[in-house]
Order: sequence, then C-alpha cells, then structure tokens
Amino acid sequence: MSNSVIFKKKINNFNKIIEVTGDKSISIRWVLFSSLANGVSTAKNLLMSEDVLAAIKAVKKLGIKIKISKNECKVYGKGIEGYKYKKNLVIDAQNSGTLGRLILGLLINTSHPIKLIGDKSLSKRDFKRISDPLKKFGAKFKLRNNRNLPLTIYGNKNLNPIKFLENKGSAQVKSAVIFGGMRANGTTFIKANKSRNHSELLSKYLKLPIDVKSKKKYDLIKVKKVKSIKNFNYHIPSDISSSAFFIVLTLISNNSKLTLKNVNINPSRIGIITILKKMGANIKLKKQRDYKGEKIADILVRSTKNLKSINCPPKLNSSAIDEFLIIFLVAAKANGVSYFKNLSELNQKESPRLEWGEKILNKIGIKTIKTKNSIKIYGNPNLKINKKITIKNYLKDHRVFMASVIAALCFGGHWKIFNPESIKTSFPNFLKILNNLKNNEKKKR
Ligand code: S3P
Repeated sequence: MSNSVIFKKKINNFNKIIEVTGDKSISIRWVLFSSLANGVSTAKNLLMSEDVLAAIKAVKKLGIKIKISKNECKVYGKGIEGYKYKKNLVIDAQNSGTLGRLILGLLINTSHPIKLIGDKSLSKRDFKRISDPLKKFGAKFKLRNNRNLPLTIYGNKNLNPIKFLENKGSAQVKSAVIFGGMRANGTTFIKANKSRNHSELLSKYLKLPIDVKSKKKYDLIKVKKVKSIKNFNYHIPSDISSSAFFIVLTLISNNSKLTLKNVNINPSRIGIITILKKMGANIKLKKQRDYKGEKIADILVRSTKNLKSINCPPKLNSSAIDEFLIIFLVAAKANGVSYFKNLSELNQKESPRLEWGEKILNKIGIKTIKTKNSIKIYGNPNLKINKKITIKNYLKDHRVFMASVIAALCFGGHWKIFNPESIKTSFPNFLKILNNLKNNEKKKR
C-alpha cells in the first residue's frame, strides 16, 4: 500500500448490494469470552482486522490455542481459570482501546505482573478510567503519568466485589468492570449510563450470572462470580459502524441506492440511523431478525435531497459515538445550522475526533463554531469544492481516513489522504468495496 491515496472525482449513480465485514466490538468480545470457555468455540465472519488479530495474539500469549482458517476461527478455551500467567508477560493492544481496556478486567487475577502496551495513538488515551475501578477489586496498577500506557497490572487472587457508577456512557469501562466482577467473590453492582451492550447480551446468551435491569437513562447490572462458560459457536454480524460510511456515501451522493446485508442493528449502536432519519434520510431496515440476542437487518439507503439540519439530542451520543465524523458530513450538506453537544468523549478516541471533525469541515469550506464539547455546523446544500485538500498527521485514526474519503467522493475537489493503511485496524476491505461501487457507477453510463 502506498503512503497516500488521491481522489479527484465524485461518485454518483450506483446501485448495489454489499456486505461489510464482521462487527469489531462483537469480534473482540467473542475472542475474549471464548478464550475463557470450556472447549472449542468457533466463529464465522470474525473480523480479520488488526484490532481483532491483536486480541487473538493477546489470548495466545495467555496460553490459549487459536486456529484461523479461511472461513472460521477456532478458540480452544481452557475454562474461566485457564489463562497461563507467565513471568514477564507483555501484551500489546496495538491500536485497540476495546482490547486494551476489556482485557484488563480479565487480568485482575494474574499471578505475575503483566505489562500492557499500545501504539502511539493508544498510548495517548485514558487508562485511568479502567485502573480506578479495577483497583477497587484488589488489583494494583502502575501507569505512565498515572493515566497512560504502558501500564503494569499486579493481580490478586482474592478479589472483592465492588459498587461502581459508570457515568461516561463508555461500554469499554462498563465491560472491563463486568469482566472484573466475573472474577470477584460476591456480587458486583454497576450503575451504568447507556452504552453498547454486546458484553451483556453475550453473557445472557451464555447464561452467565449477570443480571441487567434496563431503566430509561441507565442500566443496573449485577455480576456474580462466573464458575464456568460453555463453549459456543457464533456468526458475527456485519458492523454498523463500517456500514455507516457507505450509508452516508449513498445518502449524500446523487441517484444512488445501496443495500447493506446482515448488519447488526443493536439499538445501542444505531444512533446514526435515528439521527439521519431525523435529518430526512431515506433509510429502511428490512428483514429484521434476532440472532443470539443481537438484532440484525438489511439496510436500504437511497440518495436524499433536501436534508434538514439537526439539534442532536445528547441521549443519542453514545449509540452514535463512532459515527460523528460522517454525521458531520451530512450536516455539511443539510439546509441550516446543526448543533451537536455533550461530545467530550469524542476527543477520547483514536484521535481527538471533535477536532478532526471540525478540521475536515473547515477544509471543505464549511463554517463551524466549536467549544470543548460541542460543534455548530453551518450546512450548505450547494457545496462544491475545486481546491486541493491534504489530510495527514491524524494519528492514523481509521475513521478520520474513511470519513475523508467519503467527503472527497461526495463533495469533489482534489484530495491527497495519507496513511491508507489505517483502515487495517477496523475495515481492511473498505477501499475494495469502494472500487466495486465505482465500477458499478461506470457501467451505468
Ligand atoms: C467500544 C466502545 C466505544 C467505541 C469503540 C468500541 C466497545 O468506546 O467508541 O469504538 O467495543 O466497547 P467507549 O466505550 O470508550 O465509548
């Protein structure tokens, strides 16, 4: 892969059916849960991206055998206490916040200190949000600057249950504490702001002693010590967060129609659909069905003119948290001023995404007013770009790369976007699917 890609032409007039790769959050959770199961678990459609491969490498280091073949991945779990904690273990979470944070919950009973490292982007991110609650179980931590990776975790064999208030709406924090609770003696109580609930749904499917009471604004979660996990097979549904790039591409290009097959439409993930529909988008969920507690559908989206601006309700933030960069592009094309607020968590991602959202908008000539945690976007339905735009030094944040590509294809201009390899963390065939759409476009002319 060369170190930059060039885009000089808009895309329009495509009509296609596509299926994007497996969900990243569910793939990483599947690797972690199956590594603790008794016996062999098999996954189909596991996302083969760098983040998930990092999860596979991590559990291999803990003594778990894993076999990957073309169509499936097999994990040879050795039970809930089956990790082998060797001396001087180093686990590399690479770019993955989900892996780095969730796995710490499972490592709180380690018999030797374990070092957790990550790449440049992950090393800038907050791990105190994880070490603080996990310390209360009885584990100890040493973090760089008391906050960052590299960190060392010192486990404890006699873990107390805890009471924890999760108030960021972070599924990574909530899941790390659920995993910790699975290892502690007694009942852990968590009151958590709403966030993606794949860990809870997998626990329910596996009949683990984890009870969730869903209230309007938060969830009450009770976690008891887990004695055993039965091995299980799983077909990972397609990722709504990867689908989202193509949903927005179709929506704000002209005369196009796209069906995305077998997408996970877990209500805690589809904030983008709710937001885009409020803006007037023509999106339909077809063939809705249940799969092992998750919801799946085919998504049909058509190019839509006359999109409206939105005053985005903050209660939708968590369910759209990975999609704001592209939601901002729709706001750029909408009629009127859109307002997104309470978004401080957006700057806690692989790059400071509120900053990058504004940078991309300003580069394409859209006026914005940003504060520490909000942004106003002055939409321009007639936006056309003729100038040169360069995107670089964005900490290789996969979503900054892909959002920039979508902007290039929808608004025009001459774009040079660096570090295309960034897509490998979450969506390695993003550019390939895009090329298929381009070929489809050519045939129509
Ligand atoms: C994720 C949770 C979210 C999300 C991330 C994946 C997960 O992060 O941004 O891409 O799989 O639990 P936070 O929990 O930090 O909000």
